[in-house]
Amino acid sequence: MALLEVHKMSVNFGGIKPVSELDLQIEEGELIGLIGPNGAGKTTVFNLLTGVYTPTEGSITFNGERIDRLKTHQIVKKGITRTFQNIRLFKQMTVIDNVKVAFNNRLKYSPLEGILHLPRYKKEEAWLEEEAMKLLKIFELDKYAYELSMNLPYGKQRKLEIARALAGSPKLLLLDEPAAGMNPNETNELMQTIKLIRDQFNMTILLIEHDMNLVMSICERLVVIDYGMVIARGTPSEIQNNEKVIGAYLGQA
Ligand SMILES: Nc1ncnc2c1ncn2[C@@H]1O[C@H](COP(=O)(O)OP(=O)(O)O)[C@@H](O)[C@H]1O
Ligand SMILES: [Mg+2]
Repeated sequence: MALLEVHKMSVNFGGIKPVSELDLQIEEGELIGLIGPNGAGKTTVFNLLTGVYTPTEGSITFNGERIDRLKTHQIVKKGITRTFQNIRLFKQMTVIDNVKVAFNNRLKYSPLEGILHLPRYKKEEAWLEEEAMKLLKIFELDKYAYELSMNLPYGKQRKLEIARALAGSPKLLLLDEPAAGMNPNETNELMQTIKLIRDQFNMTILLIEHDMNLVMSICERLVVIDYGMVIARGTPSEIQNNEKVIGAYLGQA
């Protein structure tokens, strides 16, 4: 069984179906691109996978378990984390604290121990700091660890979001247009970092992008959606020459 198995998943908002009978399988360790024109339903797929919306039909099975009726925090605990199309950091918190809070549900000390600064708390704090710093290093953000996240340049804020999503060792990482608003250099660098995360951590990644050229270089498989339905699946070279895909992109305003 694949790590993620989505079977005929639909969502209906008063007659509008942003996602319709979507099938998707992702094997452990795969880096898959979910692409499609603006408004195709890509972000809605993420909202369904993470419990923001509940599918009106179909099923989502993750790691052998049905998760389509679970709440977001329960799904996070099962090992699915995400980033957002629009950055959602704690702006008034430091860079490292943004990562540390994401580790929260792995902590073992009780609130009372925390208040009293008992030994277990101190040990866990040191561990937390170390783990957060390791993640920051991967994204070359360690030298900004104690700055407020809102003071980071835009491209680095995007990287911080990914670092935070990796806290707590998720099994599946969902990235929603992580390169949005970046310049071509930053974008290239980010794509290489995403590939590195997959290779180093054997992470499974589903990457949303509307610019298909961007994901061609790093994804081994692409799923293309338009009007909430899968219109093509295949390797980048298969997708590049697919008439339905070309049509969907040309049809965009
Ligand atoms: N809660 C909602 N209620 C009604 N329509 C929605 C809702 N969420 C998304 N949609 C619609 O679903 C369609 C797909 O949106 P979205 O998933 O954001 O597209 P993409 O991420 O591919 O650009 C859009 O037409 C959007 O307006
Ligand atoms: Mg979107």
